[in-house]
Amino acid sequence: MGSLLIVANLKSYKNESEAKVWVSEFIKQRAVWDNLDGKEIVICPSFTLLPFFSSSFSDTKIKIGAQNVSPFEVGAYTGEVNAKQIKDFATYVIVGHSERRKYFGENDSLLAKKTILAKTFDLTPIYCIQNNDAQIPEGVQIIAYEPDFAIGSGNPDTCENASKIAKILLEKNPEFRVLYGGSVTADNVSSFTKAEGLKGVLVGGASLDAAEFIKIIENA
Ligand code: PGA
Repeated sequence: MGSLLIVANLKSYKNESEAKVWVSEFIKQRAVWDNLDGKEIVICPSFTLLPFFSSSFSDTKIKIGAQNVSPFEVGAYTGEVNAKQIKDFATYVIVGHSERRKYFGENDSLLAKKTILAKTFDLTPIYCIQNNDAQIPEGVQIIAYEPDFAIGSGNPDTCENASKIAKILLEKNPEFRVLYGGSVTADNVSSFTKAEGLKGVLVGGASLDAAEFIKIIENA
């Protein structure tokens, strides 16, 4: 069976003081998430907040992820944050989110480079795809199926369709761990986590509120 992976993608919203409020709200509910059986939680804040989140959860089972990684190694690449730097604070990294593809022109060959570098530095990629035709780089194990129309729209895919996509991916590689993302809420999360083939969720908007994310964890 394996455990469920519940990932919060905090996107580019919070500054430090807002992040402190989020973390203190989340920590107040420690009883809910501290000894979860069969659920793994990953929180992916902005780069600037990685040290804060990492130290806030260092004595817990919560894992930290980055939302992006440079396609370059250490070096003269102004403005980039590379896998070695991320590794100091995180164990996961989201690669190929549809917002990266759409607004930053990231394509399959660039995403393959990011994946290789993430793995070189022992970061586990959470590789996002929008449909089952997408290229998936070698070495990827966690795939988040996130159809464009469902992201931030309040209009999630059906769990039947998400399950169908998961099964197609699993036929390609039974070792894949397939997550669903796109307008996941506390109300609909269990329909996805119970759907055949799915092993978790990637939550954007609904994770921005710590209390709502706690409910998602409880209901998953
Ligand atoms: P959403 O975003 O939950 O706000 O739809 C999901 C994502 O972008 O990963």
